[in-house]
Amino acid sequence: MQIKINIKPSQKLLNLPTYVFAELDEWKEEAKAKGMDLIDLGIGNPDGCTPEAVVKAAVESLKNPKNHGYPSFKGKDELREGIAQWLYNKHGITMDPKDEIQTLIGAKEGLAHLAMAYTNPGDINIVPDPYYPVLSRGTWLSNGEVYHVKLEEKNNFLPDLKSIPEEVAQKAKIFFVNYPNNPTAGVATKEFFKEMVDYCKKYNILLCSDLAYSQIVFDGYKPPSVFEVEGAKDIAIEFYSFSKSYNMAGWRIGFAVGNKEFIKTLYAMKTNLDYGTSSIIQDAAIAALNLPEDQCCHISGNYQRRRDFMVEGFNKLGWNVKKTQATMYLWLQVPQGYDSKTWCKTILDKTGVVFTPGIAFGKHSDGYFRASLVAPDNRLMEALDRLEKAGIKYS
Ligand SMILES: Cc1ncc(COP(=O)(O)O)c(C=O)c1O
Repeated sequence: MQIKINIKPSQKLLNLPTYVFAELDEWKEEAKAKGMDLIDLGIGNPDGCTPEAVVKAAVESLKNPKNHGYPSFKGKDELREGIAQWLYNKHGITMDPKDEIQTLIGAKEGLAHLAMAYTNPGDINIVPDPYYPVLSRGTWLSNGEVYHVKLEEKNNFLPDLKSIPEEVAQKAKIFFVNYPNNPTAGVATKEFFKEMVDYCKKYNILLCSDLAYSQIVFDGYKPPSVFEVEGAKDIAIEFYSFSKSYNMAGWRIGFAVGNKEFIKTLYAMKTNLDYGTSSIIQDAAIAALNLPEDQCCHISGNYQRRRDFMVEGFNKLGWNVKKTQATMYLWLQVPQGYDSKTWCKTILDKTGVVFTPGIAFGKHSDGYFRASLVAPDNRLMEALDRLEKAGIKYS
């Protein structure tokens, strides 16, 4: 007799919106099955290799049996000390390696767990729209609610704090911000962070800044850390990633810094769920932090060169894209008469070039699509060429 199994996932998992990236994968599979040569500018995965010194450090570390056991929950002392020094060099901020720094299995893990560690059912967290999807997932998985504040081009993709209803601000627990921003490439000033710190202090909200793109910056631009604002440690935590800065997306390592209590809570959450990042990866991260400046600039420099010809190329096709100061993304308007999914599907069918529909980043973002600069120069140029030949333009 065959037993009928019917075990459903939890309602909170079922309630999550469909991940548009999964649909995008299906489109790509279909296109590949038709024999199309895809140029995938839909993903945010760096196409460059991890610097050689980092790989070497990992290989050496692997040979040391001490690194074969469970790592420490907080991360190695040497790594946390290296992070503190790096933060001082980059931003002039001081963090105590003892209790103001927590290593992570990537910023994504930390961001989701922070929300889960603080959110009770019915709590409200504020997340911008568009946004990196993870910023809302931890809240939803805790049966909390997300209030989306719109990021509009006319406000340089910064949230208009006055647009947030008083009752939402009163009830909100966490306010997530991400600058340099995925997907808009918007950047924030120190004055903006000051406004955010004041706002969050006024309403007793935990300010969570996601600085995953801190090192993907162009033309000498330096993105501020929230902790450059005096008194930010009272209210804020900030997340960093090695993924983009050092082409280490597959290694899975990042860190959180800031208010001791928030770091302690995140640590408590993690001790219940994971064992931290492998010691081998931590040794690789230490080597990354010690890389000479020119090697990090080399990674950014590649994106800057690509940004230059891609902005020019899109503008020749009728867009009016400004030169971005950071990130590996261009955020482009969808022409009238299309929603973002139909627009991206049309481009894919006609050209084999993959972009991400804006709707993947929030329900208010259907008027845009995202192009990632994550293919070699010749493939990016070919993508522009295919668009032009297929008559794809902004009108
Ligand atoms: C805004 C933002 N934050 C965090 C992450 C995740 O970083 P990590 O690879 O360290 O988990 C990403 C990845 O694309 C991102 O775009």
